[in-house]
Amino acid sequence: MTARDRWRVYKRVCLMFFLAVVTITVVQRGHMSTGAQFHVERQTRQEAATGGALQKKGLYSGTDRFWKVSKRKQEPTTEDPKVTEERGARTWDVTTTNCTANLNFSNTEWFAGLEANFKQFLLYRHCRYFPIIINHPEKCRGEIYLLIVIKSIITQHDRREVIRKTWGKEQEIDGKRIKTLFLLGASANEVEKANHQKLLEYEDYIYGDILQWDFMDSFFNLTLKETHFLKWFSTYCGNVRYIFKGDDDVFVNVQNIFEFLGDINIKNLFVGDVLFKAKPIRKKENKYYIPQALYNKTHYPPYAGGGGFLMDGPLARKLYGASETLDLYPIDDVFLGMCLEVVQVTPIRHNAFKTFGLVKNKNSKLNKEPCFFKGMIVVHKLLPPELLNMWKLVNSDLICAQKVEIL
Ligand SMILES: *[C@@H]1O[C@H](CO)[C@@H](O)[C@H](O)[C@H]1NC(C)=O
Ligand SMILES: *[C@@H]1O[C@H](CO)[C@@H](O)[C@H](O)[C@H]1NC(C)=O
Ligand SMILES: *[C@@H]1O[C@H](CO)[C@@H](O)[C@H](O)[C@H]1NC(C)=O
Ligand SMILES: *[C@@H]1O[C@H](CO)[C@@H](O)[C@H](O)[C@H]1NC(C)=O
Repeated sequence: MTARDRWRVYKRVCLMFFLAVVTITVVQRGHMSTGAQFHVERQTRQEAATGGALQKKGLYSGTDRFWKVSKRKQEPTTEDPKVTEERGARTWDVTTTNCTANLNFSNTEWFAGLEANFKQFLLYRHCRYFPIIINHPEKCRGEIYLLIVIKSIITQHDRREVIRKTWGKEQEIDGKRIKTLFLLGASANEVEKANHQKLLEYEDYIYGDILQWDFMDSFFNLTLKETHFLKWFSTYCGNVRYIFKGDDDVFVNVQNIFEFLGDINIKNLFVGDVLFKAKPIRKKENKYYIPQALYNKTHYPPYAGGGGFLMDGPLARKLYGASETLDLYPIDDVFLGMCLEVVQVTPIRHNAFKTFGLVKNKNSKLNKEPCFFKGMIVVHKLLPPELLNMWKLVNSDLICAQKVEIL
Protein backbone atom coordinates (compact mmCIF):
# COMPACT_ATOMS: atom_id res chain seq x y z
CA MET A 1 0.00 0.00 0.00
CA THR A 2 1.41 3.33 -0.99
CA ALA A 3 1.15 6.34 1.22
CA ARG A 4 -1.45 7.67 -1.17
CA ASP A 5 -3.64 4.56 -0.87
CA ARG A 6 -3.42 4.74 2.85
CA TRP A 7 -4.47 8.35 2.71
CA ARG A 8 -7.43 7.43 0.54
CA VAL A 9 -8.54 4.68 2.94
CA TYR A 10 -8.11 7.05 5.84
CA LYS A 11 -10.22 9.66 4.11
CA ARG A 12 -12.94 7.14 3.40
CA VAL A 13 -13.06 5.97 7.00
CA CYS A 14 -13.28 9.54 8.21
CA LEU A 15 -16.10 10.30 5.82
CA MET A 16 -18.04 7.21 6.88
CA PHE A 17 -17.60 8.09 10.51
CA PHE A 18 -18.81 11.62 9.84
CA LEU A 19 -21.86 10.35 7.99
CA ALA A 20 -22.64 7.96 10.83
CA VAL A 21 -22.51 10.81 13.34
CA VAL A 22 -24.75 12.98 11.18
CA THR A 23 -27.24 10.14 10.74
CA ILE A 24 -27.42 9.44 14.45
CA THR A 25 -27.85 13.13 15.19
CA VAL A 26 -30.63 13.51 12.63
CA VAL A 27 -32.41 10.43 13.94
CA GLN A 28 -32.21 11.71 17.48
CA ARG A 29 -33.38 15.16 16.44
CA GLY A 30 -36.33 13.52 14.80
CA HIS A 31 -37.18 11.98 18.14
CA MET A 32 -36.84 15.28 19.92
CA SER A 33 -38.43 17.52 17.37
CA THR A 34 -41.62 18.59 19.11
CA GLY A 35 -41.52 19.92 22.62
CA ALA A 36 -44.34 17.89 24.10
CA GLN A 37 -43.17 14.68 22.56
CA PHE A 38 -39.72 15.34 23.83
CA HIS A 39 -41.02 15.56 27.36
CA VAL A 40 -42.90 12.30 27.11
CA GLU A 41 -39.87 10.67 25.59
CA ARG A 42 -37.58 12.05 28.23
CA GLN A 43 -39.88 10.92 30.97
CA THR A 44 -40.03 7.54 29.36
CA ARG A 45 -36.30 7.32 29.56
CA GLN A 46 -36.38 8.17 33.20
CA GLU A 47 -38.98 5.53 33.85
CA ALA A 48 -36.75 3.07 32.12
CA ALA A 49 -33.89 4.05 34.36
CA THR A 50 -35.74 3.92 37.64
CA GLY A 51 -38.61 1.58 37.40
CA GLY A 52 -39.26 0.47 33.89
CA ALA A 53 -43.00 0.88 34.42
CA LEU A 54 -43.59 2.31 30.98
CA GLN A 55 -41.59 -0.43 29.37
CA LYS A 56 -44.66 -2.60 29.52
CA LYS A 57 -46.68 0.01 27.70
CA GLY A 58 -44.52 -0.35 24.63
CA LEU A 59 -42.88 3.02 24.98
CA TYR A 60 -39.47 1.51 25.35
CA SER A 61 -37.30 2.46 22.42
CA GLY A 62 -33.77 1.76 21.31
CA THR A 63 -32.22 4.85 22.79
CA ASP A 64 -33.34 3.80 26.22
CA ARG A 65 -30.75 1.13 26.43
CA PHE A 66 -28.03 3.70 26.37
CA TRP A 67 -29.80 5.54 29.12
CA LYS A 68 -30.10 2.34 31.10
CA VAL A 69 -26.40 1.67 31.32
CA SER A 70 -25.91 5.06 32.93
CA LYS A 71 -25.17 5.55 36.58
CA ARG A 72 -28.77 5.73 37.70
CA LYS A 73 -29.29 2.09 36.88
CA GLN A 74 -28.18 1.34 40.42
CA GLU A 75 -31.14 3.09 41.95
CA PRO A 76 -33.53 0.77 43.71
CA THR A 77 -36.76 0.21 41.86
CA THR A 78 -39.29 1.48 44.31
CA GLU A 79 -42.39 1.59 42.19
CA ASP A 80 -45.09 2.49 44.65
CA PRO A 81 -48.51 2.24 43.01
CA LYS A 82 -49.88 5.07 45.14
CA VAL A 83 -47.13 7.40 44.00
CA THR A 84 -47.79 6.47 40.38
CA GLU A 85 -51.42 7.37 40.74
CA GLU A 86 -50.63 10.75 42.20
CA ARG A 87 -48.15 11.51 39.51
CA GLY A 88 -50.81 11.56 36.85
CA ALA A 89 -52.72 14.23 38.70
CA ARG A 90 -49.85 16.42 39.80
CA THR A 91 -47.68 17.92 37.17
CA TRP A 92 -46.09 21.24 36.38
CA ASP A 93 -49.21 23.04 35.16
CA VAL A 94 -47.63 26.01 33.40
CA THR A 95 -47.19 25.21 29.74
CA THR A 96 -47.23 28.56 27.96
CA THR A 97 -45.48 31.85 28.50
CA ASN A 98 -47.62 34.88 28.02
CA CYS A 99 -45.60 37.54 29.66
CA THR A 100 -46.05 41.05 28.30
CA ALA A 101 -44.54 44.12 29.89
CA ASN A 102 -46.74 45.84 32.42
CA LEU A 103 -46.73 49.46 31.29
CA ASN A 104 -49.13 50.69 33.97
CA PHE A 105 -46.55 52.84 35.75
CA SER A 106 -44.12 53.47 32.91
CA ASN A 107 -45.12 57.13 32.71
CA THR A 108 -44.59 57.84 36.37
CA GLU A 109 -41.75 59.99 37.57
CA TRP A 110 -40.37 57.49 40.05
CA PHE A 111 -40.19 54.80 37.37
CA ALA A 112 -38.35 57.07 34.94
CA GLY A 113 -35.69 57.71 37.59
CA LEU A 114 -34.85 54.03 38.06
CA GLU A 115 -31.83 52.12 36.74
CA ALA A 116 -32.41 49.91 33.70
CA ASN A 117 -32.28 46.62 35.60
CA PHE A 118 -34.94 47.77 38.06
CA LYS A 119 -37.12 48.95 35.22
CA GLN A 120 -36.85 45.55 33.60
CA PHE A 121 -37.63 43.88 36.88
CA LEU A 122 -40.74 45.99 37.44
CA LEU A 123 -42.05 45.59 33.90
CA TYR A 124 -42.05 41.81 34.24
CA ARG A 125 -42.63 41.44 37.95
CA HIS A 126 -46.20 40.20 37.46
CA CYS A 127 -45.09 37.20 35.37
CA ARG A 128 -45.02 34.60 38.11
CA TYR A 129 -44.51 31.20 36.51
CA PHE A 130 -42.91 29.82 33.39
CA PRO A 131 -42.98 26.45 31.63
CA ILE A 132 -40.49 23.79 32.70
CA ILE A 133 -37.91 22.73 30.11
CA ILE A 134 -36.19 19.92 31.99
CA ASN A 135 -38.16 18.15 34.69
CA HIS A 136 -37.60 15.22 37.02
CA PRO A 137 -40.91 14.21 38.54
CA GLU A 138 -39.35 10.91 39.61
CA LYS A 139 -36.71 12.57 41.76
CA CYS A 140 -38.82 12.75 44.88
CA ARG A 141 -40.23 9.26 44.65
CA GLY A 142 -40.11 7.40 47.95
CA GLU A 143 -38.84 8.68 51.26
CA ILE A 144 -36.07 11.23 51.12
CA TYR A 145 -34.30 12.50 54.18
CA LEU A 146 -32.33 15.31 52.61
CA LEU A 147 -32.96 16.98 49.28
CA ILE A 148 -30.02 19.10 48.20
CA VAL A 149 -30.94 21.83 45.73
CA ILE A 150 -28.31 24.06 44.20
CA LYS A 151 -28.77 27.24 42.21
CA SER A 152 -26.66 27.07 39.10
CA ILE A 153 -26.44 28.58 35.63
CA ILE A 154 -25.94 26.86 32.30
CA THR A 155 -22.31 27.75 31.74
CA GLN A 156 -21.09 26.62 35.15
CA HIS A 157 -21.03 22.90 34.47
CA ASP A 158 -17.62 22.61 36.13
CA ARG A 159 -19.12 23.61 39.45
CA ARG A 160 -21.90 21.07 39.09
CA GLU A 161 -19.38 18.41 38.19
CA VAL A 162 -17.32 18.98 41.32
CA ILE A 163 -20.39 19.15 43.54
CA ARG A 164 -21.61 15.80 42.20
CA LYS A 165 -18.25 14.31 43.11
CA THR A 166 -18.04 15.88 46.54
CA TRP A 167 -20.69 17.16 48.91
CA GLY A 168 -23.62 16.85 46.53
CA LYS A 169 -23.18 13.14 45.95
CA GLU A 170 -26.43 11.20 46.02
CA GLN A 171 -26.10 8.55 48.67
CA GLU A 172 -27.66 6.86 51.63
CA ILE A 173 -26.34 7.42 55.14
CA ASP A 174 -27.72 5.12 57.87
CA GLY A 175 -30.68 4.31 55.65
CA LYS A 176 -31.44 7.99 55.03
CA ARG A 177 -31.52 8.91 51.38
CA ILE A 178 -29.92 12.05 49.95
CA LYS A 179 -30.99 13.37 46.54
CA THR A 180 -29.52 16.26 44.61
CA LEU A 181 -30.93 18.71 42.06
CA PHE A 182 -29.60 21.75 40.24
CA LEU A 183 -31.93 24.66 39.54
CA LEU A 184 -31.50 26.55 36.29
CA GLY A 185 -33.20 29.11 34.14
CA ALA A 186 -32.76 29.67 30.43
CA SER A 187 -29.75 31.40 29.00
CA ALA A 188 -29.98 35.17 28.69
CA ASN A 189 -28.24 35.44 25.33
CA GLU A 190 -28.81 33.67 22.05
CA VAL A 191 -25.22 32.59 21.41
CA GLU A 192 -25.03 30.91 24.77
CA LYS A 193 -28.40 29.33 24.19
CA ALA A 194 -27.28 27.87 20.88
CA ASN A 195 -24.02 26.53 22.23
CA HIS A 196 -24.90 25.37 25.69
CA GLN A 197 -28.52 24.23 25.78
CA LYS A 198 -27.84 20.92 24.01
CA LEU A 199 -24.83 20.32 26.23
CA LEU A 200 -26.98 20.94 29.27
CA GLU A 201 -29.55 18.46 28.01
CA TYR A 202 -26.83 15.93 27.46
CA GLU A 203 -25.49 16.56 30.96
CA ASP A 204 -28.95 15.94 32.29
CA TYR A 205 -29.24 12.83 30.15
CA ILE A 206 -26.21 11.47 31.96
CA TYR A 207 -26.91 12.60 35.50
CA GLY A 208 -30.66 13.26 35.56
CA ASP A 209 -30.33 15.97 38.18
CA ILE A 210 -31.25 19.21 36.43
CA LEU A 211 -34.43 21.26 36.68
CA GLN A 212 -34.69 24.02 34.12
CA TRP A 213 -37.40 26.61 33.63
CA ASP A 214 -38.00 28.94 30.74
CA PHE A 215 -37.14 32.26 32.33
CA MET A 216 -34.03 34.29 31.79
CA ASP A 217 -31.32 33.35 34.28
CA SER A 218 -30.44 36.79 35.62
CA PHE A 219 -29.54 38.09 39.06
CA PHE A 220 -32.95 39.65 39.66
CA ASN A 221 -34.67 36.52 38.44
CA LEU A 222 -33.13 34.46 41.25
CA THR A 223 -36.37 35.10 43.09
CA LEU A 224 -38.18 33.33 40.26
CA LYS A 225 -35.83 30.40 40.82
CA GLU A 226 -36.88 30.41 44.46
CA THR A 227 -40.62 30.50 43.74
CA HIS A 228 -40.35 27.96 40.94
CA PHE A 229 -38.52 25.59 43.23
CA LEU A 230 -41.10 26.02 46.01
CA LYS A 231 -43.91 25.33 43.55
CA TRP A 232 -42.07 22.37 42.06
CA PHE A 233 -41.37 20.98 45.52
CA SER A 234 -44.99 21.38 46.57
CA THR A 235 -46.10 19.61 43.41
CA TYR A 236 -43.81 16.61 43.44
CA CYS A 237 -42.21 16.11 46.85
CA GLY A 238 -44.55 14.80 49.51
CA ASN A 239 -41.98 12.78 51.40
CA VAL A 240 -38.94 14.95 51.83
CA ARG A 241 -37.90 15.54 55.42
CA TYR A 242 -35.33 18.32 54.97
CA ILE A 243 -34.03 20.56 52.23
CA PHE A 244 -30.61 22.07 51.93
CA LYS A 245 -30.68 24.89 49.42
CA GLY A 246 -27.58 26.75 48.37
CA ASP A 247 -25.22 28.20 45.80
CA ASP A 248 -22.89 26.26 43.53
CA ASP A 249 -19.79 27.92 44.95
CA VAL A 250 -19.96 26.81 48.56
CA PHE A 251 -18.38 24.09 50.63
CA VAL A 252 -20.87 21.91 52.49
CA ASN A 253 -20.28 19.32 55.16
CA VAL A 254 -23.16 16.88 54.86
CA GLN A 255 -21.93 14.82 57.80
CA ASN A 256 -22.40 17.86 60.01
CA ILE A 257 -25.86 18.50 58.58
CA PHE A 258 -26.81 14.98 59.63
CA GLU A 259 -25.29 15.46 63.06
CA PHE A 260 -27.14 18.74 63.48
CA LEU A 261 -30.49 17.39 62.27
CA GLY A 262 -30.13 14.28 64.39
CA ASP A 263 -30.05 16.35 67.57
CA ILE A 264 -32.98 18.62 67.00
CA ASN A 265 -36.69 18.28 66.80
CA ILE A 266 -38.09 21.64 65.79
CA LYS A 267 -41.27 22.25 63.89
CA ASN A 268 -40.88 24.76 61.06
CA LEU A 269 -37.13 24.47 60.98
CA PHE A 270 -35.32 27.18 59.07
CA VAL A 271 -31.68 27.62 59.93
CA GLY A 272 -28.80 29.43 58.31
CA ASP A 273 -26.60 32.49 58.37
CA VAL A 274 -29.42 34.74 59.50
CA LEU A 275 -29.32 38.51 59.47
CA PHE A 276 -31.63 40.36 61.81
CA LYS A 277 -32.59 43.95 61.10
CA ALA A 278 -30.48 44.18 57.99
CA LYS A 279 -30.87 47.54 56.27
CA PRO A 280 -31.63 47.82 52.56
CA ILE A 281 -28.50 49.00 50.79
CA ARG A 282 -28.91 52.47 49.30
CA LYS A 283 -25.50 52.85 47.66
CA LYS A 284 -25.97 52.59 43.93
CA GLU A 285 -22.62 50.88 43.29
CA ASN A 286 -23.56 47.93 45.46
CA LYS A 287 -24.77 44.69 43.92
CA TYR A 288 -27.62 44.64 46.43
CA TYR A 289 -28.67 48.27 46.01
CA ILE A 290 -32.40 48.83 46.35
CA PRO A 291 -34.05 52.14 45.49
CA GLN A 292 -36.49 53.67 47.94
CA ALA A 293 -39.25 53.28 45.37
CA LEU A 294 -38.96 49.51 45.62
CA TYR A 295 -38.62 49.11 49.36
CA ASN A 296 -39.15 51.99 51.73
CA LYS A 297 -39.00 50.36 55.18
CA THR A 298 -35.92 50.87 57.32
CA HIS A 299 -34.98 47.23 57.58
CA TYR A 300 -35.68 43.79 56.22
CA PRO A 301 -37.39 40.98 58.08
CA PRO A 302 -34.90 38.36 59.36
CA TYR A 303 -33.54 36.32 56.49
CA ALA A 304 -30.85 33.73 55.87
CA GLY A 305 -28.05 34.22 53.37
CA GLY A 306 -28.94 32.41 50.16
CA GLY A 307 -25.52 30.74 50.01
CA GLY A 308 -26.85 27.82 52.02
CA PHE A 309 -29.62 27.12 54.52
CA LEU A 310 -31.67 24.23 55.85
CA MET A 311 -35.42 23.98 56.11
CA ASP A 312 -37.92 21.21 56.60
CA GLY A 313 -40.21 19.94 53.86
CA PRO A 314 -43.55 20.95 55.43
CA LEU A 315 -42.27 24.50 55.96
CA ALA A 316 -41.22 24.71 52.30
CA ARG A 317 -44.83 24.00 51.34
CA LYS A 318 -46.05 26.76 53.65
CA LEU A 319 -43.50 29.12 52.15
CA TYR A 320 -44.85 28.33 48.71
CA GLY A 321 -48.28 29.43 49.88
CA ALA A 322 -46.82 32.57 51.42
CA SER A 323 -44.82 33.44 48.31
CA GLU A 324 -48.01 33.59 46.29
CA THR A 325 -49.38 36.32 48.50
CA LEU A 326 -46.39 38.62 47.95
CA ASP A 327 -45.06 40.71 45.11
CA LEU A 328 -41.73 39.41 43.86
CA TYR A 329 -38.68 41.11 45.34
CA PRO A 330 -35.44 41.28 43.38
CA ILE A 331 -33.23 39.79 46.12
CA ASP A 332 -34.08 36.13 46.54
CA ASP A 333 -32.98 35.54 50.11
CA VAL A 334 -34.69 38.70 51.34
CA PHE A 335 -37.83 37.57 49.52
CA LEU A 336 -37.71 34.27 51.39
CA GLY A 337 -37.36 36.27 54.62
CA MET A 338 -40.56 38.09 53.67
CA CYS A 339 -42.27 34.73 53.14
CA LEU A 340 -41.07 33.55 56.56
CA GLU A 341 -42.57 36.68 58.06
CA VAL A 342 -45.92 35.87 56.45
CA VAL A 343 -45.98 32.38 57.99
CA GLN A 344 -44.63 33.84 61.25
CA VAL A 345 -41.55 31.68 61.47
CA THR A 346 -38.35 33.23 62.75
CA PRO A 347 -35.28 31.74 61.10
CA ILE A 348 -32.58 30.40 63.42
CA ARG A 349 -29.08 31.76 63.22
CA HIS A 350 -26.33 29.16 63.46
CA ASN A 351 -22.58 29.69 63.55
CA ALA A 352 -21.78 26.75 61.30
CA PHE A 353 -23.35 28.55 58.34
CA LYS A 354 -20.84 30.99 56.89
CA THR A 355 -22.53 32.23 53.77
CA PHE A 356 -21.16 35.73 54.06
CA GLY A 357 -17.55 34.51 54.19
CA LEU A 358 -15.70 32.58 56.87
CA VAL A 359 -13.88 35.60 58.17
CA LYS A 360 -14.05 39.17 57.01
CA ASN A 361 -10.36 39.30 56.21
CA LYS A 362 -9.89 37.49 52.91
CA ASN A 363 -6.20 36.87 53.59
CA SER A 364 -6.80 35.16 56.89
CA LYS A 365 -5.30 31.71 57.29
CA LEU A 366 -8.67 30.40 58.41
CA ASN A 367 -9.82 30.49 54.81
CA LYS A 368 -7.42 27.65 54.07
CA GLU A 369 -7.67 25.78 57.35
CA PRO A 370 -9.29 22.35 56.87
CA CYS A 371 -10.06 22.01 60.58
CA PHE A 372 -12.35 24.99 60.32
CA PHE A 373 -14.13 23.56 57.33
CA LYS A 374 -14.48 20.27 59.16
CA GLY A 375 -16.48 21.99 61.87
CA MET A 376 -18.75 23.98 59.56
CA ILE A 377 -21.96 23.18 57.72
CA VAL A 378 -21.58 25.60 54.83
CA VAL A 379 -18.79 27.96 53.86
CA HIS A 380 -18.88 30.57 51.12
CA LYS A 381 -17.08 30.60 48.81
CA LEU A 382 -14.99 27.93 47.13
CA LEU A 383 -14.55 27.40 43.41
CA PRO A 384 -13.99 23.96 41.85
CA PRO A 385 -10.22 23.44 42.31
CA GLU A 386 -10.17 24.77 45.87
CA LEU A 387 -13.36 22.92 46.70
CA LEU A 388 -11.98 19.60 45.51
CA ASN A 389 -8.80 20.22 47.45
CA MET A 390 -10.57 21.15 50.64
CA TRP A 391 -12.92 18.21 50.27
CA LYS A 392 -9.97 15.82 50.11
CA LEU A 393 -8.29 17.42 53.11
CA VAL A 394 -11.42 17.43 55.26
CA ASN A 395 -12.19 13.82 54.37
CA SER A 396 -8.66 12.58 54.93
CA ASP A 397 -7.47 11.38 58.33
CA LEU A 398 -7.38 14.94 59.42
CA ILE A 399 -6.41 15.42 63.02
CA CYS A 400 -7.55 18.68 64.47
CA ALA A 401 -5.78 19.75 67.67
CA GLN A 402 -8.80 21.66 68.88
CA LYS A 403 -12.08 20.30 67.72
CA VAL A 404 -14.17 23.28 66.79
CA GLU A 405 -17.20 22.84 68.98
CA ILE A 406 -19.66 24.59 66.81
CA LEU A 407 -22.46 22.10 66.36
C1 LIG B 1 -51.46 36.95 26.03
O1 LIG B 1 -52.08 37.91 26.88
C2 LIG B 1 -52.66 39.00 26.19
C3 LIG B 1 -53.15 40.02 27.21
O2 LIG B 1 -53.49 39.43 28.41
C4 LIG B 1 -53.79 38.49 25.30
O3 LIG B 1 -54.40 39.53 24.60
C5 LIG B 1 -53.21 37.46 24.32
O4 LIG B 1 -54.24 36.90 23.54
C6 LIG B 1 -52.45 36.36 25.04
N1 LIG B 1 -51.78 35.52 24.08
C7 LIG B 1 -51.74 34.19 24.17
C8 LIG B 1 -50.99 33.48 23.12
O5 LIG B 1 -52.30 33.58 25.07
C1 LIG C 1 -52.64 47.52 35.16
O1 LIG C 1 -53.67 48.31 35.65
C2 LIG C 1 -54.97 47.78 35.43
C3 LIG C 1 -55.99 48.82 35.88
O2 LIG C 1 -55.66 49.33 37.13
C4 LIG C 1 -55.11 46.47 36.18
O3 LIG C 1 -56.39 45.91 35.97
C5 LIG C 1 -54.06 45.49 35.68
O4 LIG C 1 -54.10 44.29 36.42
C6 LIG C 1 -52.67 46.11 35.79
N1 LIG C 1 -51.73 45.24 35.14
C7 LIG C 1 -50.79 44.54 35.80
C8 LIG C 1 -49.96 43.65 34.97
O5 LIG C 1 -50.62 44.65 37.00
C1 LIG D 1 -36.87 37.47 34.11
O1 LIG D 1 -37.23 36.51 33.13
C2 LIG D 1 -38.27 36.92 32.26
C3 LIG D 1 -38.60 35.76 31.36
O2 LIG D 1 -37.48 35.31 30.68
C4 LIG D 1 -37.83 38.15 31.50
O3 LIG D 1 -38.86 38.59 30.65
C5 LIG D 1 -37.45 39.24 32.46
O4 LIG D 1 -36.96 40.35 31.77
C6 LIG D 1 -36.43 38.76 33.45
N1 LIG D 1 -36.25 39.78 34.46
C7 LIG D 1 -35.07 40.26 34.80
C8 LIG D 1 -35.08 41.34 35.82
O5 LIG D 1 -34.03 39.86 34.34
C1 LIG E 1 -43.94 52.90 51.18
O1 LIG E 1 -44.41 52.09 50.12
C2 LIG E 1 -45.78 51.71 50.26
C3 LIG E 1 -46.10 50.71 49.17
O2 LIG E 1 -45.38 50.96 48.02
C4 LIG E 1 -46.65 52.96 50.22
O3 LIG E 1 -47.99 52.59 50.36
C5 LIG E 1 -46.23 53.89 51.34
O4 LIG E 1 -46.95 55.11 51.25
C6 LIG E 1 -44.74 54.18 51.28
N1 LIG E 1 -44.34 54.91 52.48
C7 LIG E 1 -43.51 55.92 52.45
C8 LIG E 1 -43.17 56.53 53.77
O5 LIG E 1 -43.04 56.37 51.41
